[in-house]
Amino acid sequence: MRINNKQYRTVWYDAESNVVSMIDQVKLPFAFEIVELKDYKETAEAIRNMTVRGAGAIGATAGFAMAQAFVSLNGNAGEIQMAKDFIEATRPTAVNLFYASNKVFNAGQAGVEQAVNMAQNIADEDAEGCRLIGENGNELIKANSRILTHCNAGWLAFVDYGSALSPVYAAKASGKAPFVYADETRPRGQGARLTAFELHHNEVDHRIIADNAAAFYMSKGMVDMVITGADRITGNGDVANKIGTLEKAIVAREYGIPFYVAAPFSTFDFATESGDMITIEERDEEELLYHEGPDKDMVMRSIRMASPGSHGLNPAFDVTPAKYITAFITEKGIIKPEELSTYR
Ligand code: MRU
Repeated sequence: MRINNKQYRTVWYDAESNVVSMIDQVKLPFAFEIVELKDYKETAEAIRNMTVRGAGAIGATAGFAMAQAFVSLNGNAGEIQMAKDFIEATRPTAVNLFYASNKVFNAGQAGVEQAVNMAQNIADEDAEGCRLIGENGNELIKANSRILTHCNAGWLAFVDYGSALSPVYAAKASGKAPFVYADETRPRGQGARLTAFELHHNEVDHRIIADNAAAFYMSKGMVDMVITGADRITGNGDVANKIGTLEKAIVAREYGIPFYVAAPFSTFDFATESGDMITIEERDEEELLYHEGPDKDMVMRSIRMASPGSHGLNPAFDVTPAKYITAFITEKGIIKPEELSTYR
């Protein structure tokens, strides 16, 4: 992805210095900064505190953190196992994290170089898979389509290109002039902050809407299709994605609007049968009770939005049953939920 005329990936790793670098997503869209993480603990902390977030990006980051552990721990099996546990304890829902930590851990049994190569391969495959998702998803988009998306499943949520937004970028590049409704995505605001930032930089026509406004636009016939990402897709086609996805899918069904989920195969968890078996991350109530943003001098501030004395509940994801999903947009093509068993 190009920002200010420079090509970026969301996260990358230099094995020689053993440093992981990433775009700081907590500061976006108000500041564009790169952070450098010198060991696996710092990299894991960046996943936990959402400096990096989104299924593919945290997957690649977990793979890099695992590689950092192999490089720095001199093959000490006990310590490497502890590093794996530490990395995997950061966030529970997106399966890409476990996909990457396991693959790098297993590759590392043959040597440090193998661990490093595997981590780099996972990142490269993520970028290439998302590029293909764009090509495949573009086939579904008609000229001037009005597309609703929830949360951020653009290039910032992956190594490059994105999942839900990759078809939008491909459609834009092929002259179809897509329009995007970006749900703001309370409480962290990934739609208002990150999706909007991406669309703006790609010159895609878009508007940020309140999460509560999506049903209104659907009921008025002003949404042609919904495309979201996914954090985990189980064997039966149920989808864990950012909280609020479920209600969008139900409303889309009511109004006959196709509901697509774009994800690479690293997000499919065939070992888990159905969505009710997925661990849903509960995040700090402060995300809900406070809003964060820059004041007029661009100093980041946190402001309380809710009545003092009240506590909040903050589930980060919900599960959309497969019956609401029109099809999955993947690097291997467009797949209907009932066809998934072929890919197990
Ligand atoms: O909590 P986050 O920001 O890591 O949430 C993950 C997501 O970005 C969304 O759920 C997204 O739609 C799917 S991940 C590409």
